[in-house]
Amino acid sequence: VEVVIVPDAVAGGELIAEAIVTLVRRKPDALLGVATGSTPLPIYQALAAKVRAGAVDASRARICQLDEYVGLPTGHPESYRSVVLREVVEPLGLGAESFMGPDGAAEDVPAACAAYDRALREAGGVDLQLLGIGTDGHIGFNEPCSSLASRTRIKTLTQQTREDNARFFDSLDEVPHHVITQGIGTILEARHLVLLATGEGKADAVAHAVEGPVAALVPASALQLHPHATVVVDEAAAAKLK
Ligand code: F6R
Repeated sequence: VEVVIVPDAVAGGELIAEAIVTLVRRKPDALLGVATGSTPLPIYQALAAKVRAGAVDASRARICQLDEYVGLPTGHPESYRSVVLREVVEPLGLGAESFMGPDGAAEDVPAACAAYDRALREAGGVDLQLLGIGTDGHIGFNEPCSSLASRTRIKTLTQQTREDNARFFDSLDEVPHHVITQGIGTILEARHLVLLATGEGKADAVAHAVEGPVAALVPASALQLHPHATVVVDEAAAAKLK
């Protein structure tokens, strides 16, 4: 794993946005895998600014989701589909047809999961997958003890993750219990993995992921199995690295 330490979240966003610009210049129809949550927002802001400034023509870029809540009504503002459309797809000037994600409102969730894995393959695979990290070491919503070979499937959120995400909802009760997430095996198929972690709350998870043993107990440690994985951390999140 290549570790890059940056002064702060804005610098991390800038650095990763520049890597995406380089990718899209080389491959205009690149498939960019995006994460939600707070951490990647500086990436999306920096990227949209570069596209608006004409640094790259992103009109053929494609966007795919990492995970989705199960059971939120279609169009709910905190569904990850809504969030990705609002934070990534629209600011880049793309349309909904440039975007794919798992169907969190499907009647048959296992079929929706298999269909999403298939769709990612048929799209040619993810070129660059952005990741955040949970305080418990999750990537996507592969909570601790997820199989390192797992495929896209339904998972139950831990109490800690529901509490971490309650800030996006009116109350903890409204945070869904279930999600569809790309599996760790699915994530590892992307050609380049880029994980951004900022703030002292992520320092333990980052240290375990990068310097600890590869273990299902720390899903982000699976990045050590990938030939091209980059972890970008600010100084606070790097504090516990040796
Ligand atoms: C979101 C996701 C999660 C988050 C993680 C960190 O799509 O897959 O793994 O990246 O929970 O969330 P933040 O960035 O809000 O701390």
